Amino acid sequence: MAPPTNTTASSEDLATDILAALDKSQPLLSSDAFPSATFVDLKAALDRLASREMVRYDTIERQEALLEPEAEQIVANGSHEARVFEALRKAVEGLSVKELEEAIGDKNVVKIGQGKAFKEKWISKTKDGKFTAVADKINDTTQEQIKTVQQTKTHPDPKILADLKKRKLIRTQNIFSFKIHKGPKFALKIPEEATDLTADMIASGAWKTATFKPYNFKALGATQNGGALHPLNKVRQELRNIFFEMGFEEMPTDKFVESGFWNFDALFVPQQHPARDLQDTFYISDPKAADFPRADSPDDTKDYQAYWGNVKAVHQDGKYGSIGYRYPWSGDESLRLVLRTHTTAISANMLHKLAATKGPDGRPLPARYFSIDRVFRNETVDATHLAEFHQVEGVIADYGLTLGGLMEFMEIFFGKMGLHDLQFKPAYNPYTEPSMEIFAYHKGLGKLVEIGNSGMFRAEMLESMGLPKDMRVFGWGLSLERPTMIKYGISNIRELLGHKVDLEFVQGSPAVLLGQE
Ligand code: PHE
Repeated sequence: MAPPTNTTASSEDLATDILAALDKSQPLLSSDAFPSATFVDLKAALDRLASREMVRYDTIERQEALLEPEAEQIVANGSHEARVFEALRKAVEGLSVKELEEAIGDKNVVKIGQGKAFKEKWISKTKDGKFTAVADKINDTTQEQIKTVQQTKTHPDPKILADLKKRKLIRTQNIFSFKIHKGPKFALKIPEEATDLTADMIASGAWKTATFKPYNFKALGATQNGGALHPLNKVRQELRNIFFEMGFEEMPTDKFVESGFWNFDALFVPQQHPARDLQDTFYISDPKAADFPRADSPDDTKDYQAYWGNVKAVHQDGKYGSIGYRYPWSGDESLRLVLRTHTTAISANMLHKLAATKGPDGRPLPARYFSIDRVFRNETVDATHLAEFHQVEGVIADYGLTLGGLMEFMEIFFGKMGLHDLQFKPAYNPYTEPSMEIFAYHKGLGKLVEIGNSGMFRAEMLESMGLPKDMRVFGWGLSLERPTMIKYGISNIRELLGHKVDLEFVQGSPAVLLGQE
């Protein structure tokens, strides 16, 4: 479909008319040549011609004087004073006010006219109070002045013009017209302009004679309302790049619902742990329970039955040198469905699969995994907490890993995000030992802020999966929201996530470069 244009048929004709008129005489004054054309139509037609260099034009602004209805009356019948004089000249005996009003038929004309006629000394009063004409002949200058204005739309004497305006006999208005000259490419017809050079034109040779529409390099084009990445997605992409350049593989996190088994039990979180309370975790009521853990692809050869047994044993009775928690472990509790409270559920699943890999020495391969995805916690919503957030998680599995080496790794990883001089504080996680909270100095806030949680995964967790004793696995997690809020200077999380987010904020937020001030 052709795009809508505002060039109407009439402005098309007008353009041709202008060219024809200009051919006969130039310069052409639009107000003379096209008195009834509107300013808008004229300008559209002229711009069309001017863009093709067929004409050039100047805009002229001038003032035009127009008659008010009272002045029209004066042109037809004479001024008020002249009419009073004329009536009295005919009545030899003179006339009373009443008789004068009857003769003229307009009280207003009499009222104004007799005053003026007195001033002009055209009339006087008789002894018995009647009006009578005293001049022989008068000159109706007011009528003459107005006639001049009527014919020329102005008056040569600006004082008279101002006076007529003050008497509300005329009004003035600004008139724009155009003074039009022929342009270098003047012709009687608007040539067809080609906007594109086509294969057909080349084949037929038509390009040789074609007139091409010049490019308008100043055209801004229509605003493009394309999609925009949410700031969280921009920071997420930056973080993904950091992980990728450090050799990490992205974990498949495409499920929000997990069984308690993967979210808690596999991670050696005891079934009485407060994190498993309703106040902290969202449980799914329908369906009631998860399926028993099983392989999700044909090449997954792991024995899930054995794994389940190991997890139960390590919780209930102790195993792998651990005395366990010593409580009756419930399989039903383990199969309750939850909205995952951390992506560590995915890490557990991945590490369990890793245990089945075999390197050249027959042992599981070292691995680096990461994920960035949504997790859910039953929190009281306030300015800095929602019931969901995005967790950034990294896991490194290798032989002979040491805590010191991993603190070094954290310096490098967070350094790429622009966070330096980390501080580590001993912490507690059911699934890591030792555990460390990671702090960084926040320049804006002028203090240390917690940026992540980390630790060495426990033997109870790793050996249940079948990972060898000397394989160490380090993990850490942080929220995507925190660095994003710091980077974009947002203090209320609801401005970042949820139904109150301003789309202009999303569209207008620049890209980020983590690690850059
Ligand atoms: N799951 C932890 C959290 O929710 C993050 C973490 C991951 C900690 C891996 C240690 C190891 O904060």
